[in-house]
Amino acid sequence: MAEALLDIRGLGLALPDRSRRPLFGKAPLRPILEGIDLKVGRGECVALVGESGSGKTTLARSVLRLYEPQQGEIVFAGRDITHMDELELRPLRKRMQMIFQDPLSALNPRRRIGEIVVQPLLSFGAVAPTAAELNARARALLQQVSLPADFARRYPHELSGGQRQRVGIARAIALEPDLIVADEIVSGLDVSTQARILILLRELRTRLGMGMIFVTHDLSVVRVLCDRVVVMREGRVVEEGPTEAVFARPQHPYTRALLDAIPLPEIDDDWLSGKDAAAALT
Ligand SMILES: Nc1ncnc2c1ncn2[C@@H]1O[C@H](COP(=O)(O)OP(=O)(O)OP(=O)(O)O)[C@@H](O)[C@H]1O
Ligand SMILES: [Mg+2]
Repeated sequence: MAEALLDIRGLGLALPDRSRRPLFGKAPLRPILEGIDLKVGRGECVALVGESGSGKTTLARSVLRLYEPQQGEIVFAGRDITHMDELELRPLRKRMQMIFQDPLSALNPRRRIGEIVVQPLLSFGAVAPTAAELNARARALLQQVSLPADFARRYPHELSGGQRQRVGIARAIALEPDLIVADEIVSGLDVSTQARILILLRELRTRLGMGMIFVTHDLSVVRVLCDRVVVMREGRVVEEGPTEAVFARPQHPYTRALLDAIPLPEIDDDWLSGKDAAAALT
């Protein structure tokens, strides 16, 4: 495998169980993730799959250190970030970006698209960019995700769901991060829009060499994008391996059940090599 960009070993996380919170005092902790090992190489895409509630989002958030784990360690780009405080994490934060499932709630409704996509440059840039630089960057970022330049002046509600998701992607790649964590980002979209977003991500990943964690419960999209698959169940990893191997010879009964549950993959190799895919990139 490529040099490890992310190396998670024995990760254990428990979160407060609100349903058992007493009237006074703290809620007891409930284990959510246990003994998770997860590696992502530079430029590699790892799919995180598993049924609802298996802990995919929690693991994704832990990778970005939105939670502090109780057990194990998280090493990102050679740095142990397991218990780093926000100040120490800050320079690393710009190297890891998240794309969210619902772009409408993730995008500030009062900001124009052009402002949204360059926001990371303003938050993390070492020197304040000039207005001309910001205008040029906004244009370039929209172009990278195949959106017209004049969308820069629009507001999020003036875009379609698929277009908004492209804006989320443009913002995530603004700083050319080493790692992108995408949580169910194509789930709400129709199949052809899904395919367009997947093709775009694949192309960007190759061009920018980003590592990626792609969270989904839909195995049919994994094949298009991911090199390896990690299957989760009840807060643990039950199987992992190269995508083709896991699809061809699933070892764990749970993975077999998961594979059986998917309908005929609508986005298959034929689709990808067809004219629809070519059109999607233009
Ligand atoms: N902030 C939180 N506090 C306490 N428990 C949580 C929190 N977030 C998630 N959980 C619990 O952790 C478990 C895993 O949730 P998680 O959201 O990671 O699952 P998931 O695999 O992403 O599911 P889905 O496919 O539905 O998005 C669930 O039982 C959930 O109730
Ligand atoms: Mg989730």
